[in-house]
Amino acid sequence: MCKKYMSDANELPPVITIDGPSGSGKGTIAKLLAARLNFALLDSGALYRTAALAALNRGVDLTSEIALAQVAKALDVRFVVDNGRLRVLLEGREVTSDIRMERVSMAASKVAAIPGVRAALLQRQRNFRRLPGLVADGRDMGTTVFPDAQVKIYLTAGAEERARRRAAQLRGKGVSVSLRDLLEDIRARDTLDMNREASPLAPAEDAVELDSTGVDIEAVLQRVLTLVFDRIQPGVP
Ligand code: DC
Repeated sequence: MCKKYMSDANELPPVITIDGPSGSGKGTIAKLLAARLNFALLDSGALYRTAALAALNRGVDLTSEIALAQVAKALDVRFVVDNGRLRVLLEGREVTSDIRMERVSMAASKVAAIPGVRAALLQRQRNFRRLPGLVADGRDMGTTVFPDAQVKIYLTAGAEERARRRAAQLRGKGVSVSLRDLLEDIRARDTLDMNREASPLAPAEDAVELDSTGVDIEAVLQRVLTLVFDRIQPGVP
């Protein structure tokens, strides 16, 4: 059955924001939630990762704010949903797995700290808002991109647990990794994401904070769904 969800706050389609640090489980929760509600999905991290990859491919200096803002402005990126899986195309070429490489992750953190890059990508992110609704996953979805979102979640987990999750994910793909290196990377990225001037990672004042340390993903999803159904009224089918 296709349910229609209406926003109380205004005429715009409803938005659920899920912010938090890397490895907190927000990507998984956002995907499951969007599928459960039949909402569109914005993986804003993929946008910053693609901008970083474009900069790396062109040999752009990652400290040059003007050059990076230009890369972001001209970014030819497309998100295609294929059999429920998000595919990312940069200049028509598939980069879905390239943007997940560790060197791109670190570059994305640097690129995302540039105010001109964030400004260039702001409207693109807002354009994802559509009926019947949007689940937006990132760092500043509830604070900057969709401050009027109906439901705001801030999902966290301890750094060690996040490193373990990332290690399991990479080992599952046959990539050999050191847990210590991953933990260091995660801490370095947290520091960059939380301490930058432009839209730092922080919970919105009206966000509900959930800690997923030691909690299985289905339990987190149930908690989020309860919040969603509390705040967004299912409409007539
Ligand atoms: O969620 P992720 O790990 O794919 O994000 C990649 C990088 O982009 C991460 O270092 C933080 C940054 N990012 C951001 O600054 N703002 C967002 N809304 C999403 C991601």
